[in-house]
Amino acid sequence: MIVETQELTRMYRLGASVIMAVNKVSLEIKESTFVSIAGPSGSGKTTLLHLIGLNDRPTSGKVFFKNEDTSLLSHRERREIRLRNIGFVFQTFNLLPTLTALENVELPMALAKIPPKLQREKAIQLLEAVGLTGRLQHRSKELSTGEMQRVAIARALANDPLLILADEPTGELDSETGYEIIKLLLRLCRTHKTTVVVATHDERVAKASDVKYSMRDGLITRDVGL
Ligand SMILES: Nc1ncnc2c1ncn2[C@@H]1O[C@H](COP(=O)(O)OP(=O)(O)O)[C@@H](O)[C@H]1O
Ligand SMILES: [Mg+2]
Repeated sequence: MIVETQELTRMYRLGASVIMAVNKVSLEIKESTFVSIAGPSGSGKTTLLHLIGLNDRPTSGKVFFKNEDTSLLSHRERREIRLRNIGFVFQTFNLLPTLTALENVELPMALAKIPPKLQREKAIQLLEAVGLTGRLQHRSKELSTGEMQRVAIARALANDPLLILADEPTGELDSETGYEIIKLLLRLCRTHKTTVVVATHDERVAKASDVKYSMRDGLITRDVGL
């Protein structure tokens, strides 16, 4: 198992009210699978991805990453696991607008202290792999939304993650570009054995996935296909 959660719970307190954003979620994610998490807005998808990605800590329950109980780790150790093993793709891309496509992809490698020459080679190779050979020196604000999402995927792959967490990666894209992104993620999963977990409203993502979950009010259920 690459990720296992046990009764994972994240509660938010807003004044007198309590929101169970993620409510006792127990799931197992196997290596090399393509997993989708569907559910309406506010159902807890983003919160769950941030817990699995060790960006946030649960109110109760546990996340095991490669069978290691991450609740026992320090902030620094969790950051190290995240940097070496997990790539994030956000709905709004989160690129740095004034950096070029190349520089955006190099950034996580710089954080992982990869030598600059290797960073450059790898960034070029990744941007080629996502079909952006002609856009290396474009600043991200000069790119189309589809191109930005490709840069974001290349960046997520920079440190050869075992796991990609994608939060509504097609949400801001037109239908055709969205479909290209889905195919790209699927290809990564099939050829590089990368585990991909996608939170999505996009029915095509759910269709393409090996394992489907649905969330509602913080609760998760596994959909068993016909
Ligand atoms: N930082 C926060 N503080 C308070 N409530 C939050 C916070 N983040 C999310 N929530 C609430 O938690 C619930 C789940 O949110 P979220 O995980 O963003 O859902 P989704 O990604 O499925 O739209 C929502 O009701 C949302 O309002
Ligand atoms: Mg969300």
